[in-house]
Amino acid sequence: MEKLKIIGGNRLSGSISCSGAKNAALPMLAATILSDKAITFKNLPYLQDITTMFEILGSMGADITLNETMDFTISTANLHDFEARYELVKTMRASILVLGSLVARHGFARIALPGGCAIGSRPVDFHLDALEKLGAKIELKNGYIEASSKKLKGCEINFPGVSVTGTENIMMAAVLAEGQTILRNVAKEPEVEDLADFLKSMGAKIEGAGTDEITIDGVDDLQGSIFSIPADRIEAGTYLIAAAITAGDITISEIDPFRMNNILDKLKLSGATIKVGNNDIHLSMKNGSISPVDISTAPFPGFPTDMQAQFTVLNSLSDGSAVVTENVFENRFMHVQELNRMGCDITVKGSNAIIKGVSSLNGAPVMATDLRASASLILAGLCADGETIVDRIYHIDRGYERIEEKLSYLGADITRLPN
Ligand code: UD1
Repeated sequence: MEKLKIIGGNRLSGSISCSGAKNAALPMLAATILSDKAITFKNLPYLQDITTMFEILGSMGADITLNETMDFTISTANLHDFEARYELVKTMRASILVLGSLVARHGFARIALPGGCAIGSRPVDFHLDALEKLGAKIELKNGYIEASSKKLKGCEINFPGVSVTGTENIMMAAVLAEGQTILRNVAKEPEVEDLADFLKSMGAKIEGAGTDEITIDGVDDLQGSIFSIPADRIEAGTYLIAAAITAGDITISEIDPFRMNNILDKLKLSGATIKVGNNDIHLSMKNGSISPVDISTAPFPGFPTDMQAQFTVLNSLSDGSAVVTENVFENRFMHVQELNRMGCDITVKGSNAIIKGVSSLNGAPVMATDLRASASLILAGLCADGETIVDRIYHIDRGYERIEEKLSYLGADITRLPN
């Protein structure tokens, strides 16, 4: 298994560009099922989760081509198999995103039930209940969800809790349903808006994405599109923290700072000087001292759970104590044990992590447990004394494009060790 070797202590400086957002790209790839016309994506990030979605679409009969311009064109005109197999779904829960599109366009889907997950049980009941309301018949058979329907029928759906992929799945199902669908208590994440923009570029009629209520007027069919994947706010946030904890000075380009206010506000409170342009963010942490910042995760516009582990590291290097509260997922403090092995002083009590700042960390061999937990271990390694070896980095490759290249470019001493 590949590993990352990090020698800590280098101050990060310079400029990198942000990659396309995984969480925007995945639902858009699933949405290609909704049209028999070719769709071209620009700025698709090179990530394992994207490869997994390609494999799912490919196994169904989609035609995926890499163009000379390095853009991908996908055609689902000849789809013949409407199934997402367990071997693929078990590696990526977001595979459930093909459910809505398959039922809407082909009247059938067979998707392996996503199993348990390192960050809590993460059920899919909101997706299934909402699809049933649109008229699908849902059965659970041999570990698979089987959903079938003639034409879906628009209706009003009040989600019992806020779910990002739940909102996206049902939005995709409703764009080809008969009549109007109103979705309430939906996720307001920027990636939900991105998906709505993409579906609209295909001819869908959607209003309200980014608010609590989305209204969709079903259409008979959708067109092809050429669409550029917006930048990844979580990737950008992770690199900003890398700079903050190394007393660094970096610029991230190709990122819309206005979708990152919740992250930037907390970085400012920690002592960072932040300057934003229309399409870039500059952070400097010249005096090197970090103030503790309490974090409490919540659906957007609240503080993102996907930045919780990284801020846990920032607080560990602060001049005081902070409390990080995880409200979105149960059991999302798997990184804490490994961070404590590197010298952090973190105590978990229920959904709170109580963090006492320490003056230095020590390098150690550590094990990645999930995507953002891996990011936090790399961050800790960047400022630890000596060598850190991060094992099981397939987790990081799911969501960070060329992380060791980007960090090296900023001055970090980080190398990928082969199997
Ligand atoms: C998405 C993101 C993930 C992020 C998360 C929260 C993608 C591909 N992934 O995950 O990076 O961490 O949003 O911002 O976009 N829930 C239910 N029943 C359901 C669905 C969800 O109880 O049917 C619960 C979950 O267990 C969790 C909460 O709702 O406690 C939010 O989960 P959700 O927004 O669905 O997360 P994902 O869409 O899986």
